[in-house]
Amino acid sequence: MAVRLGDTAPDFEVETTQGKIKFHDWMGDGWAILFSHPKDFTPVCTTELGAVAKLKSEFDKRKVKVLGLSVDKIGDHEKWSKDIEETQGTKLNFPLIDDHERKVSDLYDMIHPNASDTMTVRSVFVVGPDKKVKLTITYPASTGRNFDEILRVVDSLQLTADYQVATPVNWKDGDDVIIVPAVSNEEAKGKFPKGWKELKPYLRVTPQPNRN
Ligand code: BEZ
Repeated sequence: MAVRLGDTAPDFEVETTQGKIKFHDWMGDGWAILFSHPKDFTPVCTTELGAVAKLKSEFDKRKVKVLGLSVDKIGDHEKWSKDIEETQGTKLNFPLIDDHERKVSDLYDMIHPNASDTMTVRSVFVVGPDKKVKLTITYPASTGRNFDEILRVVDSLQLTADYQVATPVNWKDGDDVIIVPAVSNEEAKGKFPKGWKELKPYLRVTPQPNRN
């Protein structure tokens, strides 16, 4: 069964390069990104994992913990991490799941047999503090993901959670945001003291509320 937006993220207990993890307990009251990569010792994955490690301070700032996965064993993850350090100039600083039994891959439908029946696709699940799935993305093995885009989506999701706003096309941190239609003008007066521009009754634009 596919894991869909709004579902409770399936919980699991696994061995990782940083010891045993029980997913929901490990998340605590923060956010999580669970992502799969197809295989250890492969070129695109090597660049992706290096890029994720370099973004650690950005994830920390947003209270997001990152958890990687492939259907390889811990011994391979550990050997490969030396190559990542050598070629990408950074140590792995987040746990990688040993999913050689495909427990988590099956739980999250990360193996798409018509793409490959032995490797996971490039799946991303962003999970909120309420343990609900907020974002899913699936990329093929041949295309490395853009983790700056994933951070951008996390910023948008966190704004929605905290301020009842949505973000428009190509929004980036600092740009104006949209007051969601569920908020009446009366309520908006209290919530958005900087005011808003009403282009249409359903299209109200306000400065990003967590910016000065
Ligand atoms: C890669 O990471 O480069 C890769 C992995 C599996 C299939 C194709 C490419």
